Amino acid sequence: MKYGHFDDSKKEYVITSPKTPLPWINYLGCESFFSLISNTGGGYSFYKDAKLLRLTRYRYNNVPYDNNGRYFYIKDNGVTWNPGWQPTQTELDSYSCRHGLGYTIFESSKNDLAASVTAFVPIGDNCEINKLTLKNNGSSDKNIDIFSYIEFCLWNAVDDASNFQRNLNTGEVEIEPGVIYHKTEYRERRNHYAVYGVNAPVAGFDTDRETFLGAYRSPSDPEVVEKGAATNKVASGWSPIGSFQLKATLKPGEEVSYVFVLGYIENPKEEKWEALNVINKKRAHEMLERYNTTEKADVAFKALCDYWTNLLGKYTLETEDDKLCRMVNIWNQYQCMVTFNMSRSASYYESGMGRGMGFRDSSQDLLGFVHLIPDKARERIIDIASTQFEDGSAYHQYQPLTKTGNMDIGSGFNDDPLWLIAGTSAYIRETGDFSILDEMVPFDNKVELAKPLMEHLRRSFNFFDNAKGPHKLTLIGRADWNDCLNLNCFSDTPGESFQTTGPSEGPVAESVFIAGMYVKYGNEYADLCEHTGLNDEAKEVRAKVAEMYKAVTTAGWDGEWFVRAYDANSNPVGSKVCEEGQIFIEPQGMCVMAGIGVEEGLAQKALDSVKERLDTKYGIVLLQPPYQRYHLELGEISSYPPGYKENAGIFCHNNPWISIAETVIGRGNRAFEIYKKTCPAYTEDISDIHRAEPYAYAQMIAGKDAANFGEAKNSWLTGTAAWTFTNVSQHILGVRPHLDGLIVDPCIPDTIKEMTITRHFRGNIYKIHVNNAAGSQKGIKKMTVNGKEIEGTLIPFEANQGTVEVEAVM
Ligand code: GLC
Ligand code: GLC
Repeated sequence: MKYGHFDDSKKEYVITSPKTPLPWINYLGCESFFSLISNTGGGYSFYKDAKLLRLTRYRYNNVPYDNNGRYFYIKDNGVTWNPGWQPTQTELDSYSCRHGLGYTIFESSKNDLAASVTAFVPIGDNCEINKLTLKNNGSSDKNIDIFSYIEFCLWNAVDDASNFQRNLNTGEVEIEPGVIYHKTEYRERRNHYAVYGVNAPVAGFDTDRETFLGAYRSPSDPEVVEKGAATNKVASGWSPIGSFQLKATLKPGEEVSYVFVLGYIENPKEEKWEALNVINKKRAHEMLERYNTTEKADVAFKALCDYWTNLLGKYTLETEDDKLCRMVNIWNQYQCMVTFNMSRSASYYESGMGRGMGFRDSSQDLLGFVHLIPDKARERIIDIASTQFEDGSAYHQYQPLTKTGNMDIGSGFNDDPLWLIAGTSAYIRETGDFSILDEMVPFDNKVELAKPLMEHLRRSFNFFDNAKGPHKLTLIGRADWNDCLNLNCFSDTPGESFQTTGPSEGPVAESVFIAGMYVKYGNEYADLCEHTGLNDEAKEVRAKVAEMYKAVTTAGWDGEWFVRAYDANSNPVGSKVCEEGQIFIEPQGMCVMAGIGVEEGLAQKALDSVKERLDTKYGIVLLQPPYQRYHLELGEISSYPPGYKENAGIFCHNNPWISIAETVIGRGNRAFEIYKKTCPAYTEDISDIHRAEPYAYAQMIAGKDAANFGEAKNSWLTGTAAWTFTNVSQHILGVRPHLDGLIVDPCIPDTIKEMTITRHFRGNIYKIHVNNAAGSQKGIKKMTVNGKEIEGTLIPFEANQGTVEVEAVM
C-alpha cells in the first residue's frame, strides 16, 4: 500500500494522505539554519546545533505523535482547519504534501477555500520562510481568520525539557507591529534572539502559550482561535509562543499570500542593545525586509531550487529503470547531503539532544557527499582528524560547535582510526588534491601537537602494531563498527553504557571485521604512500597487510564464512561452533570488499553462506541465529529482542557491503537484487509494512525473527545513505574515482542493456555510454574515450578536457 507517489520531474515525493503510518519528514536548510518538517507541518528549527541553539520546541514521546510545528489555523465560516491537517485534524476536502529538495509544500482545501504553504530555508540566510496562499474557489465572498502558531524553545533543548524551576521564569519577548522577538536569556549571556514576522498588517498577536491555548487545552483546539480574537498578551515567563491573527476577505476567485519568517539573529556583544532591555533589532529588520513581498520570497525559492539542481547534476544516470534513476539522481544523493548537515543529531529518532559528530559515522558519510561538496569534505576531514590522539586512536565523538572531542565517550573504538584513511583516500581519489596530506592538523585538538595529515593516517595504520591479539588479528577495543558487540564490557548493572563500561579496553578480544578493514584501508594507505614517493613505507605497509590477510584466512576463516570476532576468553563469535550468532554479515562484506579470499574461493563461499543463512525478502539480517538470552561476554547485541537492531535486524548500513562484495566477484544480478531489497523506491509499494518514508533509507528494518518483520525504524540519519550511494554509483554502475583517473567497470544485472552516466570529475564532464546488448553482468570488452580506444578500465585523468565522451561495450 502507498500513501503517495514520486514526481520525478519535480524531484518530489507527493504524500496524498496525512495519515501516514509514521510522520514522514523532510529537511529544510543546507548551511547553518535547519528545520525538520513532517507531512503534517510538525517539526522544529535550530541554528547550527540542535541541542544548544533550538528555536522552536518539539514534544517527544507525545500522544498523538508529531506534536508541535509551524501551524496555520484557518477559520472560515465557523470551521477551523490546518493545511497540514494537524493539529486540529479537521478532515480536508483535499490534501497533499510535496517533500522536495530543501522545501515542503502543502496544498489543501476545505469548503472551496484552497490553501498552500511553501516552507523552505533560503540559501545564505538564517531563517525559515512559510509562504501561505489562500484562494477562494467558491461563488460567494469569504471572510477568513488566520492564526499562525509556533512555540519557542528556550534555546538549550535539554534544559528546556527539564529545568522548569528556572525556565518558567525566564521567558521574555518584545513586540512590534507584525513582529515578535523571542529574547529569553538575552539580558544575560546570550547575544542571539529569534524573530518571527509576517509581511502584512495583523489584527492581533499572542505570545503566551496558556493564554492562546486556554487552560488544559492543546494546539488541537486553541481558545483564541475558537473565540476568533487574539489577546495581544505579552508573555512573561512560562512558555512564549509566536502567533499572529490576520483577517482576509476574498471574493470568488480571489487569492492572497503572506510571507511568514522565523529567523535567528546574532548581534556582536557591543551592539546588543538599543536602550535598557530593548534589543537591537537592526539585523532582524533587515532580514524581514529581504522577504517582505511574495516576489522576494519567490526569488529566494527559485535560488534554492537552482542550488539543488546544480548540486545533484554532478552524477546523473539515464536508463530504463525509473526507480533506479530516481534513487541515484535524486533521493540517495539528497540523503547523503542530509547526513552531511545533520550527522546523527536531529531526526524523528535522534532527538537532537544527544549525540555529537561521530568519528566513524562522519568519516563514512564523507564517502557519499565528497563528489558533491569536496571543499566541505576537506574541512570535515581536518575536523575529524583533529580529534585523533597521538597514538592513532581517537575520540569517538566530537561537538559540532566547538569541534573538540567528547570526554564522556572517550576513545577505544578500534575501527575509528581506519575510517579516517577511508575518508581521506576517498577525498583524494575524487579531487586529486594530495595537498591535503601536507595540511598541519592537531592531535587531541591541541595546535602545539599539529602534524601533517599524512602523519595522522600513518598513526591510524600503525596503531595496530600494538593492538593485535592472540590470533594476530586486530583488537576490538570497546566495539568496532558494531557498537553493540561489546566484548570487553561485562555489564550487569542496569543503565550502564555498554559502550563505555569495562575493566579495560581489552588485550585479548579481536575483531575479524577490523582485520578486513586493515587490509582494505591499509592497501589504500599504501597507495597514498606510493603516490607521494614513500615507496619503502608502502612496501612495509603491504607486508603488514599480507600478514593480516593470512591471519584472516586462517584464524578468521570458519570453513564456510568469515568468523566475526574472538571474545575476551578467545572464544570465537560468529562461528559454527557457537550456539547462537553463528554467522554475522559484517566480516563477509568487509573482508570480500578488501579482496580477501577472492582467489582462494573463500569470498564466493562466504557470500553464498550469506545468501543461504542471512538473506530475507526485505534484506539481509545482521546475524543468525539471533541471541535469545543476554550474554554478559557479548554485551548490548544480546540486549535487543531477536530481530531488532544489531541482534539480527536488517541493518541497512551493511547490506551494501555485501552488494559491493558481490560486484568484486562479478555477480551483477545478485548485487542488484541486494541493492533493491532495502532501496526505498523499490519498497514504496509496501509502505504499510515498511512504515517509514519511502524516499529515504532507514537505519534498520526488523528482521525475520521479529514480530514486525519488515518494519523500518530510524530513517534518514544513517551511514546507509553513503554506502548505498557508493555501492550503486561506484560498484554497480561502476564509475569509480581512482588516484590516477576514473574507472569505468560496471557490474550490473543482465537486464540492464544500456545506460548513460554523466559524471563531473576534477573539472571535466564525462559522458559515459554503456552498451550491454550482450546482457553481461561484468567486464568491459571495449572502451573508447573521445573516439580513441583505451586498454583496461581506467581513464587516465587529464585536466581541462571539458566534456569527455566515453563509449563502453560490455
Ligand atoms: C549506529 C551508529 C554507528 C554504528 C552502527 C552499528 O548506526 O551510529 O556508529 O556503526 O549503529 O552499531
Ligand atoms: C545503541 C544502538 C546502536 C548505536 C549506539 C550509539 O547501541 O543499538 O545502533 O550505534 O547505541 O551509541
